[in-house]
Amino acid sequence: MDPNLKADSTLCDCCGLPSCRPQIVVSRGNPFAKVMIVGEAPGAKEDSAAAPFVGKSGKLLDRLLEEVGFEVNKDFYICNAFKCRPPGNRRPTKKELNHSLPWLYKQIELVDPEIILLVGATSVEALLGPQGKITNLRGVWHDFHNRLVMPLFHPAYLLRNPSKDTGSPVSLTRSDLIKVRNKLYELM
Ligand code: URA
Repeated sequence: MDPNLKADSTLCDCCGLPSCRPQIVVSRGNPFAKVMIVGEAPGAKEDSAAAPFVGKSGKLLDRLLEEVGFEVNKDFYICNAFKCRPPGNRRPTKKELNHSLPWLYKQIELVDPEIILLVGATSVEALLGPQGKITNLRGVWHDFHNRLVMPLFHPAYLLRNPSKDTGSPVSLTRSDLIKVRNKLYELM
């Protein structure tokens, strides 16, 4: 089976959008990685590159991961809860997310990660259901079918709040990523 789900993508009705088309954005990174990152949905850059997190948010995410010692394309399999770019870059609806959830489950089954990082409130809600505010959830280990799950702030939020002061969203995310790195070492 191909964790990039490429073959299946050509037959895709992954999102239920009337405009659903072959340009679905499946993944980037290492399909054998121990850590999976799940974002919300592709934006314009991701749609044209057919790869998740390659725009401004993705560049910031990569930089933060590299700063704490990760090698992004080796250490992570990166995907989104929703596989197509929603019209006007809007947030996918609950119905759309539910429609595309079997794809995410399939990716989790194929990649079989030990750790799942849920980037932003949409992916938290898609995988764990309504849990409350991301500010309370981030940085804390949760469980999804015996896999460790950690919610994180979305990098788009960090771009809007660029301060690096102690207690800022950027510095909290940095400590969350250090926690992830340490957990990964523990599991090795
Ligand atoms: N934001 C996301 O949540 N995912 C992407 O792939 C790009 C931006």
